[in-house]
Parts: sequence; C-alpha cells; structure tokens
Amino acid sequence: MTSKDYYADSYAHFGIHEEMLKDEVRTLSYRNAICNNPHLFKGKTVLDVGCGTGILCMFAAKAGAKKVIGVDMSNIIVQARQIVEANGFKDTIHLVKGKLEEVELPLAPGEKVDVIISEWMGYFLLYESMLDTVLAARDKYLAPGGVMMPDTASLYLSAIEDQEYREEKIGFWDDVYGFDYSCIKEIALREPLVDTVELKSVVCDPCLVKHINLLTVTKEELTFKDSFKLNVTRNDYIHAFLGWFDVSFDACHKPVKFSTGPHSRYTHWKQTVFYVPEMMTVSAGESISGTLSCAPNAKNNRDLDIVFEYELDGSQPIKAKAEFQM
Ligand SMILES: C[S@@+](CC[C@H](N)C(=O)[O-])C[C@H]1O[C@@H](n2cnc3c(N)ncnc32)[C@H](O)[C@@H]1O
Repeated sequence: MTSKDYYADSYAHFGIHEEMLKDEVRTLSYRNAICNNPHLFKGKTVLDVGCGTGILCMFAAKAGAKKVIGVDMSNIIVQARQIVEANGFKDTIHLVKGKLEEVELPLAPGEKVDVIISEWMGYFLLYESMLDTVLAARDKYLAPGGVMMPDTASLYLSAIEDQEYREEKIGFWDDVYGFDYSCIKEIALREPLVDTVELKSVVCDPCLVKHINLLTVTKEELTFKDSFKLNVTRNDYIHAFLGWFDVSFDACHKPVKFSTGPHSRYTHWKQTVFYVPEMMTVSAGESISGTLSCAPNAKNNRDLDIVFEYELDGSQPIKAKAEFQM
C-alpha cells in the first residue's frame, strides 16, 4: 500500500495497532475480562465489532467460544486473517471485511450472537468513537440476555492548574517573534488537547458527568447536556477543565475495570484538557457548577461539539461559557 492508501484507511497500517496492542492497561483488561470468564464464552457465538488484528477474537476463542465473528472495514483484516491462521484459530474465527452496518455475517437466518466484544472508545470517550456502530450491532445481532463487553463506560471531569503549559500552547500565539498571531490563539483555545496530566495539577475532586450502560443506551442519548459540580480541594488557579473515562466489564465473575484518569497508569487515550478563556482563582471549599454539552458535529459525525457553561461561586465569581470542537 502507498501512503495515500494509508491516509484513506488509517487503521490499515500496523503502527496504530502496535500502539493499541502495547497499551497493556487496555489490552490486558480485555484479556482478563475474556480469558478469566470462560463461563461466558464456552460454546458461545461471539461478535467482535472492529476486530483490527483479531486480538479480541483470539482471546474469545481461547476462552472456549464455539464461533467468533470478527468484522473490520480496514485492510488490516488481511493481516488479521494470517494471524488467526498462524495461531491455529482458522476453524473458530471467521473474519468479515466491511462496515459492520453493511456486511452480511456468517449466521443462519434469525441466528443471534451471545456476546459482543468491542474496543470502540475514542479520546474523551466519544471522539471518533465507533459506539454508534457497536449499538447498531447490539440491536441487530445480540440475543436476548446476551452480554456486552465492556458493558459500562463513565465520563469524568475535574479541573487543573496548568499555567506553564497553557502559556506554551496558547500564550505562544500572542507574540510569535514579535508578530501578533492571536487569530490562531482563538482556534487553539477551541481545540481540546489530548495529553497526560500529572495528578498534582488536579485542583478539584473528580465528578462523574455521564454513565453509559452499553446494554440499554440509545444513539440519541449520546447527544447530551448534563450538569456537574466540581469541589475545589485547595487554594489555586484553574486554567482548564480535564476529562477522562473509565470502562468496566461488569458481566465478569469479578468485575474488570480500567481508568484513563490522571490517577491511573498511562494509556494511549491520555487525558483531555479544555483550556478556559479566563483563568479562575479558587479556594478550598468553593465549587464550580455547570453543564457539559456533547453532540456529534453536524458536518462530520465522528467529531464532537463540546460546550462548558459554568459558574464559580467563590470570592472571585465567574460565569462563563467555553466552546470546543474535537
Ligand atoms: C480501536 S480499533 C480496535 C482493534 C482491535 N479490536 C483491538 O482491540 O486491537 C477499532 C477498529 O474498528 C474498525 N472499525 C471502525 N468502525 C467500523 C465499522 N463501522 N465497521 C467495521 N469496522 C470498523 C477500525 O477499522 C479499527 O480497526
């Protein structure tokens, strides 16, 4: 393939799969959830939505699944087929190339699957996420009483002191070798930053803003406006809101969970930083209340429009709105 092909099919190159496979928090959580729960897989039919290199398919086959169907629209499925064969799973794992929404699965008429596994999460959980695809698979193929893995996802917010890095990323545009580049500053402020944040920068307790039950959530519920209240834990300054997510496999005998928060081990999702237009001066005991709106972008539904409307009730009150697109 040429670089043009790889641009059109970003999952075709092995590099992106290398990053995901080497993310041990991610991959070992899936392995533990699947391989340590053979009672959910023995003799069962399993669908892996977006199978990539086939790693989750092979975990499911090892856990005793009778039949595993992996679907992926990317050309990485060519390698997935070779990997499945090289590891002796050719008779159990059936790989289908195409968009899940469009392909025909190797199932008898009316036949459903017992388990759906998928690694669908994007930055800030929903950015470029393929959750819509997973929900379409659930509604079309999951047998009544079937299992989703993972089955819950939670989105959290906090706020951080980030003077130095904000200056480097945002303040930079005020004076570029003596020139006024502030038009770029406005764009930079609207774009969330995916990066790792040290726990010592976090100034508020975490607040759960959205809890998603994969068995019941609808596509419409992924467009939301939910309230939050961030309790300030020390006297400091706030430059940004911080977002991350946790996922959990509650159907397991012993629930398996992982977090992508600043208190947890590194994952390739890092955290998401939303710089606010005006710094807030806060004291311990104060709080920031507000709403977080999240909606797929009208032009590109894999992009997200995110709006924070918030109020600081402190000695230096602030009422503001910050809009982002990612
Ligand atoms: C985050 S990767 C996960 C790959 C693999 N399951 C793993 O855990 O290493 C998501 C995969 O889903 C595929 N994908 C995304 N949307 C899809 C769709 N609508 N139909 C089929 N595959 C899709 C991508 O091509 C990509 O390989």
